[in-house]
Amino acid sequence: MKVLISGGTVVNATGPIAADVLVEGEIIVGLGARGSSTSASWAQSADRVIDATGQLVIPGGIDGHTHMEMPFGGTQSMDTFETGTRAAAFGGTTTIIDFAIQSKGSSLREGFDTWSAKAEGNCAIDYGFHMIVSDVNEQSLKEMDLLVDEGVTSFKLFMAYPGVFYSTDGEILQAMQQASTNGSTIMMHAENGIAIDVLVAQALARGEGDPRFHGLTRPAILEGEATHRAIQLARVADVPLYIVHLSATEALEEVVVARDRGQSVFAETCPQYLFLSEEDMAREGFEGAKYVCSPPLRPQSYQGELWRGLRTDDLSVVSTDHCPFCFKEQKELGHGDFSKIPNGLPGVEHRVDLIFQGVNRREISLGRWVDVTSTTPARMFGLFPKKGIIAPGSDADIVLYDPQRAQVFSATTHHMNVDYSVYEGVTAQGQVATVLSRGMVIIESGAYVGASGHGEFLVRGRNGYLR
Ligand code: URP
Ligand code: ZN
Ligand code: ZN
Repeated sequence: MKVLISGGTVVNATGPIAADVLVEGEIIVGLGARGSSTSASWAQSADRVIDATGQLVIPGGIDGHTHMEMPFGGTQSMDTFETGTRAAAFGGTTTIIDFAIQSKGSSLREGFDTWSAKAEGNCAIDYGFHMIVSDVNEQSLKEMDLLVDEGVTSFKLFMAYPGVFYSTDGEILQAMQQASTNGSTIMMHAENGIAIDVLVAQALARGEGDPRFHGLTRPAILEGEATHRAIQLARVADVPLYIVHLSATEALEEVVVARDRGQSVFAETCPQYLFLSEEDMAREGFEGAKYVCSPPLRPQSYQGELWRGLRTDDLSVVSTDHCPFCFKEQKELGHGDFSKIPNGLPGVEHRVDLIFQGVNRREISLGRWVDVTSTTPARMFGLFPKKGIIAPGSDADIVLYDPQRAQVFSATTHHMNVDYSVYEGVTAQGQVATVLSRGMVIIESGAYVGASGHGEFLVRGRNGYLR
């Protein structure tokens, strides 16, 4: 089956070009200058021609940070691999990398097998796994090597959530040393959880139980401090470090210093830190619970610095940290005690659209939009050039994006399995028109026409930014 995508503007991380794209089976086989004799001959022999006139033709988005079906905070995130990957596809994301979890007292293998079973046969798009290591011991350190051989080449550790995922500095250093020898990347949730727990207990003792106190007890200084510490530990272990969900300028400054020194330190931010703020957590009544995530939303004045970081590559990636809990019955678990509100926001469907608003506002270029939402995650997580680029030989994960079409975000129209939207009523300019996953059209005319089970597990290679 040959499909020609004709008349559009192909945007790779390098920028836009007027070109037609020929797909054969699951693979891109050619890029032809618009109007060239090559393109004309492709049009003759194609089984199907998709008209992309007026549209941007971009590599499918890669969301490197999602939590489908994640047990957390006494409940479980609402999207299954089936519903969550379908919602991702609606928003132009054709690959997710989710987090398999090692629970305390269990092995990495058990965690990986459990998450593989949840995902296998259920995904609308391709998927991979990072591994959360929450019990650093001799066996789990050895198992890290085995998982690298199976395509799990990044491991997340937590300086937050004592008693749940938290690791001590000594444990973190050991895991980092192991990663340094097996060629994997360490991902870090950098917030000082021990100090935060003291602030949380003090706030609750004062009767401060409203959602906004979630933010006030997780100050940006403690994100900056943990980021600094993680960077120094990574320096000692000589391991690449990737800071997840960076929200604060205090943390960004530490990343900048490390990168300027030449250290392999990378960071992602998330749309919620670019578009939402601490004021959302302070909304009337219990509404603020909808916005509770960790690290928390910061003052609006931080957003300009995050956009600057994306422009200058101090921030390399935008992921969602998609971790949806319904307002009813899940977020409500924390009525009167913010520490019981399950942490996390829904977002997998809107990342590509939201970062496109940065193009509209001239915060970033078209090429950089593709870079931070697709190309860099592909390179960072060992998927490039299979993913993250429109080029001959790459998977035909292709999104036709209409830059003129306006849309309004709402829980009544989104496809994520959650009863509210953090962007309710917000108008965005730009919307996905058509999505191909490995050559198969899965979104067309606003409808999902794919098949759950189409998505395949991705055996990932090493971080492509390493020397
Ligand atoms: O609030 C958040 N971020 N929930 C998901 C778990 C994590 O720490 O990434
Ligand atoms: Zn985290
Ligand atoms: Zn997360």
